[in-house]
Amino acid sequence: MKTPSDAGNSATVAEAPLQARATFTSSLGVLAATLGSAVGLGNIWKFPALTGLNGGAAFVMLYLLCVILIGMPVMWAELTIGRNSRANTVAAFQKLAPKTPWYLIGVSGVVSAVLIMGFYTVVCGWIYAYIFRAATGALAVPPEQTVEVFNALYTSPIQPIVWQWIVLAVTSAIVMAGVTKGIEAATKRLMPLLFLLLLICDIRALTLPGASEGLSFLLKPDLSKITAPTVLAAMGLAFFKLSLGMGCMVTYGSYINKNENLIKNTGKVVAADTTVSLLAGLAIFPAVFAFGYEPTSGPSLLFITIPAVFRSMPLGGLFCFLFFVLAAVAATGAMISLIEVPVAYLTERFGWKRNLATLATALSMALLGVGAALSSSLLSEFKIIGRTLFDTYDFVTSNVLLPVGGIFIALFVGWKWRQAAIAENGGATAAINAFTVFLRFVAPIAITLVLLQGLGIIRF
Ligand code: PHE
Repeated sequence: MKTPSDAGNSATVAEAPLQARATFTSSLGVLAATLGSAVGLGNIWKFPALTGLNGGAAFVMLYLLCVILIGMPVMWAELTIGRNSRANTVAAFQKLAPKTPWYLIGVSGVVSAVLIMGFYTVVCGWIYAYIFRAATGALAVPPEQTVEVFNALYTSPIQPIVWQWIVLAVTSAIVMAGVTKGIEAATKRLMPLLFLLLLICDIRALTLPGASEGLSFLLKPDLSKITAPTVLAAMGLAFFKLSLGMGCMVTYGSYINKNENLIKNTGKVVAADTTVSLLAGLAIFPAVFAFGYEPTSGPSLLFITIPAVFRSMPLGGLFCFLFFVLAAVAATGAMISLIEVPVAYLTERFGWKRNLATLATALSMALLGVGAALSSSLLSEFKIIGRTLFDTYDFVTSNVLLPVGGIFIALFVGWKWRQAAIAENGGATAAINAFTVFLRFVAPIAITLVLLQGLGIIRF
């Protein structure tokens, strides 16, 4: 994984008089950075949790549809806006459409980044706690009891906050320091390792007695499970998963060289990211059914099933430890990109030093985050329209702000800025023509309908 802060230290840095604007140095660097943002807790935690809650295969199908019809063109649009404007997500729209309200897309992105981190750091904190527990042998309980281990952590009023702040401190330190070549080299090796570990989990989970029920849950769609909120959840997941609708890919696009092929990069990121989610699903659902857990347990699913799967194999303790370390690594790539959105804005807009901008960003995330960290203990009864703070941050970003951001990004590139977007990609090709048609018509209409239906504003 390579991040902009890192790229600042390496070659081909285009220096503007006032501020340095870094560029990723190779196609692999671009792929690693964008994939590093996309792959994260969304794949191993959110995708399985939502699939379980929304009835399995039918949800997976809807999700794939959203990724292809909406996710791919929007990702291409964001990368194109970023590369052309070479600016943070607010300034990008101000540059491309001066004196218009389009820059509000960028503002919404900065707000979304802080809100997402509010709950993302809680989940990553649980992961850190599990690394610690795996190392000390505290996860070595019979498969049927892993649920109690999770509940002890989940309902504690103190531990989640402590872990959350450790997560924020570690991630901010990385963002401040700029990711050195060493860490970059390490993450490049760790990602394939995560892949390998998922495969090992898959094989074990699929060979458990009773695994086939989980497999059909994941692969055999029951169309009666599809409701308007399910479709909205699938679409929200597509945005969250691919880091779209909030300027993350605009920001990363701004560090990409002119000679990179944005369409190809988009295709590769989407394919790799979706594969990781499906592998995670294949590791989790067979085990859910084999050990008699409920697939609908939501956020706790990963933390209950994965330790149980590892318990039932040789060297399980070691593998379990490794699994959660790699999950933390994957989450870190995503969190770096989330922090980068406000940091790029603050440094460029107000001329703040990178360290100050990171500190301010992390602090606001920590303050908001406490509400989410306490949502399963002291604040469990505090609800906004029936949702705890944790669920509110999640719902408002994935299911409202990111899709709304997506509508306007699609409209912007599809209508207002289309010719320039095509030129930025070296002229029209079949793929670009298809993407622009999707951006003009399919994405805005589909997102609007799904949103209004899912929120219960209109009913067919
Ligand atoms: N895509 C990341 C994940 O799946 C989360 C994320 C969302 C990152 C939005 C950046 C922006 O975990």
